[in-house]
Amino acid sequence: MKICFIGTGYVGLVSGVCFSDLGNNVICIDKDREKLSRLVNGDIPIFEPGLSELVRKNLDAGRLSFSDDLIGSINKSDIVFIAVGTPTAKDGVSADLSQVFSVAQLISKKIKTHKIIVTKSTVPIGTGDKIEKILNKNKKKGLFTIVSNPEFLREGEAIKDFKYPDRVVIGANDKKVIKIFNELYRPIVNKGAAFVSSSRRAAELIKYASNAFLATKISFINEIANLCEKVHVNVDDVALGIGLDKRIGSRFLRAGPAYGGSCFPKDTKALAKVGKHHNSPLSIVNAVINFNEKRKKDIENNIYRILHNKIKNKTICFLGVTFKANTDDLRDSSAINLISKFIKKGAKINYYEPSGSKEILDKQKNVNYFDDLYSATKNADLIIIHTEWDEFKNLNFSKIKNNNKKITIYDLRNLYDSKSFNNKNNITYYSIGRPVNA
Ligand code: UGA
Repeated sequence: MKICFIGTGYVGLVSGVCFSDLGNNVICIDKDREKLSRLVNGDIPIFEPGLSELVRKNLDAGRLSFSDDLIGSINKSDIVFIAVGTPTAKDGVSADLSQVFSVAQLISKKIKTHKIIVTKSTVPIGTGDKIEKILNKNKKKGLFTIVSNPEFLREGEAIKDFKYPDRVVIGANDKKVIKIFNELYRPIVNKGAAFVSSSRRAAELIKYASNAFLATKISFINEIANLCEKVHVNVDDVALGIGLDKRIGSRFLRAGPAYGGSCFPKDTKALAKVGKHHNSPLSIVNAVINFNEKRKKDIENNIYRILHNKIKNKTICFLGVTFKANTDDLRDSSAINLISKFIKKGAKINYYEPSGSKEILDKQKNVNYFDDLYSATKNADLIIIHTEWDEFKNLNFSKIKNNNKKITIYDLRNLYDSKSFNNKNNITYYSIGRPVNA
């Protein structure tokens, strides 16, 4: 099929490239010419394992192209995906839909033949209706069908999530269009994904409700982890024991720091706002948002306790600063919040990050990036394992000890068996939801 993606951000680029890999002709459109010229040369502006190889392969096969010609590209396509950003608005809670609506305006003025227009961006319930109104206003009745096709891609796992999703959701109020999407997603559905067709408004809500539910699961296990610390129980045992119940499921039950990233914090707030707007307050979602804020403070306080409230001139080493592994994304990463708190209290920060140094941190006084893990840990009073990168799962503790008389570790991802540190080798090991050294 002939497809175009408006917006070559995370969602647009990954989805566009993956659709081209399924044999479709895809044009990825962006107004940022510099970004486009990098993309044409296979230079990928985001960190996503496997993506650059896939871009190269499909550029070479002639199925993928990049363009800044919005109207020309739309006119060459049967299906137009809107994949522009929907960041948090100035009010700090709602989704800012200005980019989605300005794209709709542009399309409405120029389309000449029938197009299927799809929202891939995460948009609140009723956005499809509003896009429809914009197009109708410009007297394009009958020339378009608006569809909602939310994405469920995780950063760092996006290609796998695209190719092997649990489900594909298509929200359309037109049966003929659902058939077209059935065909488009056939290679993926044939590999086992469920195909869910619903009303457009339901699809819009499925996206927000999915992210809110996952955020709820994480907050739930984080709160249970707090209790575990008080009652000398290992939270990993609890997560395993409850997760094996298929009604609960074991995924997204890893206790850790406050959840972060560009989606859960933004989407939970936007969903709560929608609930409030429709006079249907979402008390559970609100509790999750508040708990996650409190989680940041709780972890910060745990660190003060570990350092006996003596932070000034202490060297704190962060292993990983991104909000999770396999991404270079710092958005809403709890490390950023913690580092700024510690600096204000006079600490020195060393950090090692597999995705490279970060400008926002390097600008700050007393923050130092090391491109070698073992140099970063040198003389650290506390080593915080912040992100679950694979290379932190088998640390050479003897090597760390060469440069440190005593090691104190706070493992926010429970990468190690806490019992293995039992009074051994002068290592004090703290983790999440588990008794110290037990
Ligand atoms: C999330 C969803 O998982 C995707 O399905 C969705 O498409 C995407 O948002 C989006 O809306 O675009 P992502 O933000 O990339 O994906 O990252 P996740 O892997 O979901 O992790 C989010 C946060 O939860 C991270 O801070 C992670 O460390 C934390 N997390 C995750 C836990 O603390 N415990 C877990 O068990 C899982």
